[in-house]
Amino acid sequence: MTFENIKTIGVCGAGSMGSGIIQICAAAGYQVQVLDVNEDAWKRGKSLIEKSLSAMLKKEKISQQDFDNTIGRIKFSTDINQFKNVDFVIEAVFENMEVKKATYNNLDSVLKDDVIIATNTSSICITELSALTKRSDKFIGMHFFNPVPMMKLVEIIPAYQTSASTIEIAMQISKKIGKEPVKCTDSPGFIVNRLLVPMFIEAARMVEEGVATPEDIDKAMKLGAGLPMGPCQLMDYTGVEITYHVGNIFYDYTKNPYYTPPFLLRKMVSSGYLGMKTGKGFYDYSKKD
Ligand code: 3HC
Repeated sequence: MTFENIKTIGVCGAGSMGSGIIQICAAAGYQVQVLDVNEDAWKRGKSLIEKSLSAMLKKEKISQQDFDNTIGRIKFSTDINQFKNVDFVIEAVFENMEVKKATYNNLDSVLKDDVIIATNTSSICITELSALTKRSDKFIGMHFFNPVPMMKLVEIIPAYQTSASTIEIAMQISKKIGKEPVKCTDSPGFIVNRLLVPMFIEAARMVEEGVATPEDIDKAMKLGAGLPMGPCQLMDYTGVEITYHVGNIFYDYTKNPYYTPPFLLRKMVSSGYLGMKTGKGFYDYSKKD
């Protein structure tokens, strides 16, 4: 497969990351075939895409024609057979080895031999994931950031056996869909999460120890370090369970106790304090629009 031959992108998973990826691929002119576990899941993804495009339309960042064309290029399905003719796959399913393994088995059973699979994993070893497929030379990490339509970066992470042409195609696709790619070796956290997750974990420790309130930690990092969102706000935005889960995976890979999530995060996750999506996290969103 060459970059020029890629016309249709298959996206597995239409959650918050998947829906952003679907949106930017379709906006860049690709036909997008989406696969999710059930109709409810892809309906939620579709509504996230419509909401994001509507915000752009309202602010005149896109025209009504762009809106209609982008939506018109996206096809949703729960049937893996719809992936028979896709030319490139981006996998954004749940961060769990078993779920990823089942997805790759399904993909290998229908995909053309020369199709590349890119995973949006934020924390699992890319080489371990590549070994679950029958195409480890055509497997790569393409890690996007939330909210995908706004964040310009994609980390490109080759697995141990990824071929040079797979890397080149992933770089070219990233640019075509409007992102700036940076390359990184397969290592825990890649670049951004290796720096961001320790900050999240330390911020949660500071809340637990009573060093400062979430409000003051966020204010300090916004006004003192120039971040657009403070760490507590950002954990609520991306999902508190993600920091908890990723911290545990990093600890598992490195055995560095620094990555161990503080007990506070465990309690928040167990209580459903996952952040904006559940209405409560470090902040209470239940009374806001
Ligand atoms: N779709 C379309 N437009 C969107 C959008 C979306 N999903 N989200 C925000 N926007 C637009 C808004 O409409 C607004 O447009 P305007 O400039 O024309 O008014 C613009 O983005 C700015 O939004 P806001 O004014 O509401 O708020 P901000 O200025 O704070 O920007 C932000 C929002 C871009 C999210 C900014 O706060 C930011 O950059 N935050 C940090 C995000 C970040 O760090 N992400 C990485 C998380 S880690 C990760 O993803 C890794 C993974 O592995 C977990």
